[in-house]
Amino acid sequence: MCGIVGFTGEQSAAPILLDGLKKLEYRGYDSAGIAVMDHGCISVNKVTGRIANLCEKTKDGTAVPGAAGIGHTRWATHGAPTEENAHPHLSNDGRFAIVHNGIIENYLSLREELIKDGYHFDSETDTEVIVHLIEMYYKGDMRDALIRTTNRLRGSYALGVICSEEPGKLYAVREASPLILGVGVDENYFASDVTALVNYTRNVIYLEDGEFAELSGNSVKVFDCLGKPVEKKVSRILWDVQAAEKGGYEHFMLKEIMEQPGAVKATISPRIKDGKIVFEELKLTAKDLLRIRKIVITACGSAYYAGCAAKYALEKISHIPVEVELASELRYSDPMIDNHTLLIVISQSGETADTIAALKEAKARGARTLAIVNVVGSTVAKLADNVVYTWAGPEIAVATTKGYTTQVAVLCMLSVWFADMMGIEDENYPKYVKELQALPRMIQHAIDMNSSIPALAKKYHDSKSLFFIGRNTDYAVSLEGALKMKEISYLHSEAYAAGELKHGTIALIEEHTPVIALCCNPAIMEKTLSNIVEVKSRGAEVLALTFRNNQKIVSVADDLMFIPKVDPLFSAVVEIVPLQLLAYYVAKENGCDIDKPKNLAKSVTVE
Ligand code: G6P
Repeated sequence: MCGIVGFTGEQSAAPILLDGLKKLEYRGYDSAGIAVMDHGCISVNKVTGRIANLCEKTKDGTAVPGAAGIGHTRWATHGAPTEENAHPHLSNDGRFAIVHNGIIENYLSLREELIKDGYHFDSETDTEVIVHLIEMYYKGDMRDALIRTTNRLRGSYALGVICSEEPGKLYAVREASPLILGVGVDENYFASDVTALVNYTRNVIYLEDGEFAELSGNSVKVFDCLGKPVEKKVSRILWDVQAAEKGGYEHFMLKEIMEQPGAVKATISPRIKDGKIVFEELKLTAKDLLRIRKIVITACGSAYYAGCAAKYALEKISHIPVEVELASELRYSDPMIDNHTLLIVISQSGETADTIAALKEAKARGARTLAIVNVVGSTVAKLADNVVYTWAGPEIAVATTKGYTTQVAVLCMLSVWFADMMGIEDENYPKYVKELQALPRMIQHAIDMNSSIPALAKKYHDSKSLFFIGRNTDYAVSLEGALKMKEISYLHSEAYAAGELKHGTIALIEEHTPVIALCCNPAIMEKTLSNIVEVKSRGAEVLALTFRNNQKIVSVADDLMFIPKVDPLFSAVVEIVPLQLLAYYVAKENGCDIDKPKNLAKSVTVE
């Protein structure tokens, strides 16, 4: 994810900005830059790749004079990781420079408007519209220009801004993207993450959404979105530097689990406009879709399970038959794929060797291809005819969490979009859109409802084997839940379609064998309930995942995890969250290396 730093004081700014950017490296990035103000001029230095390149270019900052500046590490979303797209971005008149974290959802229409007004764009980013708006609205008063600019923006943004006509001043704006002010002695700072600040000061001010700040060497002023001054409390950072790098979480995996409401929101909300689902990035027409006789989804690991979970929504809503194939199998299976097939390939990294090979195989057979990818500019993204990016931000923990949920979210949205494009009349359309928009909130509820999971982990952590059961999407989510458990806790865990139990697996159930039963689909609840009774009568300990008021399951299970009510077609995005938490806390009980489990890699680039 992108990172932001800002410094103003009496010392040279560039070395401090570079040091702050180094502290943000762990977040993942592909380019970086700084802008420093000196004697009424702003100088910008940007590089692709590592911060080390920026240090080299600026002689560790010594070649860049000036005591106030802003810096940024970019993790590309809009536009490839190039120098032009790297931040800071300058206004056309060179008087303003900005850095931005987040996504401006209405940037396309703003860009068109600004081009008509004579502004030219140097990058493909959503960010650049902001600096031109500031230039347009600046009439000698930065606060007024910022208020007018932010009134035009939709989406999420943490901004750092400097203006050559306001020497020594920094401006910081926060809306749905973190930004923290650092209060020092004769110098002040801001950053997207305390990691960048703790070497300099432990006194910080947390900005709230809608607030902005004006910083100089000896003052910090905070205002609300109308420009009214706000009294802020200065807090003291107590944690050590290492912990702060994980945003205060003990492990990246836990941090990434907790980031899911934001990641799913960043993926879904820019693609819903005026109550309609839109995929502006797709080149597929209604005619193309009507020619398609089947969809083949291919991927590896959790991305494959994301496909399994979304098959139900795709078939039910878009009426197109769906096959889900492991990429490592598909590539050698002489697959029945032709020019009437839409191949959907899913990959967080976009670099998985088997997935790339399956994509090439399908292309060679004439299939239309669509990739769902998290890493911008990756090989899968480059090879596919169409790309939908998940905006999950970088995932550092090897076991994917927000990668999976954002993939399923995109597939659910595609189901509704395909149907609409093909002219399928569906009275449920507005309901689907509302359900999709509510998913980030539902994930947050699922996190909040399950505070008992650490205690459940204490009970189940030394089990010999765990079995996960469910039907339909519950089964598909079981597959991913069991994978999470085995990946990070090293416990033997297997998922079974609940109806298959009696065809073999039930032989393994004995006194106290844990069975994790997923019961989140009211239409088939009774059927899974019968399977719960079957395993319980053989001594199993049942940990059920269901809705809080589902009395039938609550009364029969030994232990419970909950989710809020969600349409079963989309519920995988929410159901998986308690299972991720369960795996995490079981692994923690077992003292495992959660972020880097043994034998596993984040990106599997060999066959
Ligand atoms: C590895 C990772 C998994 C991931 C799989 C596919 O096994 O550990 O978390 O699901 O690769 O990776 P991809 O980047 O293609 O989604």
